[in-house]
Amino acid sequence: MSGIVFFKSKDLRMMRDFYQNKLGMKLWLDQGKCLIFSHLGMLIGFCQSDVAETEGTITFLYDSIALVDAAHARHRDVATSPAKLNPAFNIYHFWAKDPEGRTLEFQYFLKPSEIEGARKATIEILNPDSAKPKLLLTRMLPEAAMQELEDFFEIHANTGDCTLPRAELIEHIADKDALLCLLIDEIDAEVIKAAAKLKVISNYAVGYNNIDLDAAKACGIAICNTPGVLTESTADLAWALILATARRIPESESFTREGKFVGWEPLLFLGQDVHHKTLGILGMGRIGQAVARRASGFGMRVIYHAKDSKELDFAAELVDFDTLLREADVLSLHLPLNSQTKHLIGETELKAMKRSAILINTARGAIVDESALIRALQEGWIFAAGLDVYEQEPEIPDVLKSLPNAVLLPHIGSASFETREQMGSLAAKNAIAILQGNDAPARVL
Ligand code: DGY
Repeated sequence: MSGIVFFKSKDLRMMRDFYQNKLGMKLWLDQGKCLIFSHLGMLIGFCQSDVAETEGTITFLYDSIALVDAAHARHRDVATSPAKLNPAFNIYHFWAKDPEGRTLEFQYFLKPSEIEGARKATIEILNPDSAKPKLLLTRMLPEAAMQELEDFFEIHANTGDCTLPRAELIEHIADKDALLCLLIDEIDAEVIKAAAKLKVISNYAVGYNNIDLDAAKACGIAICNTPGVLTESTADLAWALILATARRIPESESFTREGKFVGWEPLLFLGQDVHHKTLGILGMGRIGQAVARRASGFGMRVIYHAKDSKELDFAAELVDFDTLLREADVLSLHLPLNSQTKHLIGETELKAMKRSAILINTARGAIVDESALIRALQEGWIFAAGLDVYEQEPEIPDVLKSLPNAVLLPHIGSASFETREQMGSLAAKNAIAILQGNDAPARVL
């Protein structure tokens, strides 16, 4: 049995804008005077009326604390509470309001194993020394970086096994000289406004789309990142995705483990050849080049699209965007996320690609319109996609997770022991250099 909960609404257009466009629910049925939205098996309907029914609570269930945190970050403008544990009910949740004033709850039920040691962010001063400048570190880093930081800063670190909640970030940033943060920490104008003494934001990532550059600039705060040190590891991972999608490695691996392999078959798990095909690179920066360079071992032709032609130490042809889409057998994205690159790959672009083509994204999720990609994979506009990044990270639509022609990784492009250590060390050097009044090794602004 299934069912729908209906509410009367005074403004269906506003409901659609909120539930479909903002919350990302699916419009399950449009009956003109009633709209029904669906979310993971839950159906909510709104019917046009002279009065709005606002009693009761609509609760959205999530699969982890991190997903509730991510929803909170996305819907902060309508949230009426921080995301937090409620030990009375063993839930992690936050409250919000829809535009007609209905109460919404975004919630995760803790598993029995999580109830005792529920993940908690804890700011600890690791090396009390009031003579040193103060650093806020939003998550513990590899040991070598911690050592470099400790020599220079008094470190106020989140030693918990979770993201630093925004409310704590805002509270603790107030008296800090430096911030060393992750790509998932949203450093927007509100955070920057609270950072009265801040001189540097050192991002533990090459991408810095999580930082409001204009707000930082207006306050004279330097921004640094970690380019270079993660290039080769990220390129390795892009190649892991290329081979995994083309040759259907995860699917056939699960099949084997599940005991379904009963003998060699002529048509078992046929995939696409990679060798001697055309690799298309969108954005020929450091990582794009490292991915392209590896293609020579596979005898591939390389084409790329970028603002300008690049001086390269391997053969590659600069082509226009349409040619890139049309001719690439494997299209790998290596662009930063900004207002120009958001949804650069959508329905039109995916339809322009070969039906046998593979899309690889190790850059940022929102460069691709994820709902268009899902349709492309379901309807066979392209052969497969290998993704390390997602539009609403860490949320991944269930339908995407269910598709056999999508290979999905949890944003691990730079996740090797060596690279994460080097990123930590570079992020530490950046923060220290700025406070010393020196040129930072990798300053963006
Ligand atoms: C970055 O540094 O931007 C990467 O996405 C981290 O893996």
